[in-house]
Amino acid sequence: MSFTPITDAQGFAAFPAPAKLNLFLHITGRRADGYHLLESIFQLIDAHDTIWLRVRQDGQVIHHNPIENVPAESDLTVRAARLLQGHTQQQLGVDIRVEKRLPMGGGMGGGSSDAATVLLALNRLWSLNLSRQALMTLGLQLGADVPFFIFGRNALVEGIGEIMTPIETPAAHFVVLHPPVHVPTPAIFGDPELTRDTPSLKVALLEGRADQVELKNDLEPVAVRKFPQIAECIQWLSQYAPAKMTGSGSCVFAQFIADGAEKNASQNRANAVISCLPKEMTGFVSSTLSQHQLLDFASD
Ligand code: C5P
Repeated sequence: MSFTPITDAQGFAAFPAPAKLNLFLHITGRRADGYHLLESIFQLIDAHDTIWLRVRQDGQVIHHNPIENVPAESDLTVRAARLLQGHTQQQLGVDIRVEKRLPMGGGMGGGSSDAATVLLALNRLWSLNLSRQALMTLGLQLGADVPFFIFGRNALVEGIGEIMTPIETPAAHFVVLHPPVHVPTPAIFGDPELTRDTPSLKVALLEGRADQVELKNDLEPVAVRKFPQIAECIQWLSQYAPAKMTGSGSCVFAQFIADGAEKNASQNRANAVISCLPKEMTGFVSSTLSQHQLLDFASD
């Protein structure tokens, strides 16, 4: 069923921008322009920002609550709206308010997802009827993770983040910890000690042999060396289940897969772990999404 947004008293409509976790992330090479070739499973989860949008008749794009130290002009939501406006010669504008919940610099794709939600929602609100592929191509100009959120399904992701193969992932709950550091993505990718030659595991994964290969995050050793707080969170979480970093960090997570026999088992285990969290650490429980809530806002 198509997503129907709630509307507030000022006429803003609310659209979710879900987070992602990288179940693993391998660097398989580097392009001539410095961008890295990846192989990763991107998993949508139900933790989300909310993007409030209201169509304007005067063509302006106005951000009503820009983040401190980020000029509205460089905010990804504003850039997404302007990019779409320019591409389609759209006369309408939009008011934007962002309800931020996802950690910034956390490796959960929050900023990219916010931008993807603006593109998807305006495709509907401005009656543009652009195809998913057209929106993904536009989105890649804003950031390497944006096309995934427009693709809208859990996926094996390759290239720099633009080549997607939908993949079935098990229903699961996650304990996500947020170390109190903001990781600069370019510094992690640019580190001389980063390994950039992990062999492709695509065939093994698509043949369902994920249990026979080692799935890691190649960015983790670099991030952990720069930010010991990430190592502390991984160490604490590893007492309960294998723990890994997502994206370029800083967030780390452990996965609890739902067991068909025991309803709520994965949620109960995740809740039990988070209830032991030391008071100096921050974290939450989240569950898998099988698809983006706004999936049908673009046509295939
Ligand atoms: O595209 P995005 O803004 O998400 O990427 C931030 C930075 O991360 C890039 O400027 C680049 O340094 C690095 N990056 C990379 N290879 C990727 C994605 C990001 O080197 N596939």
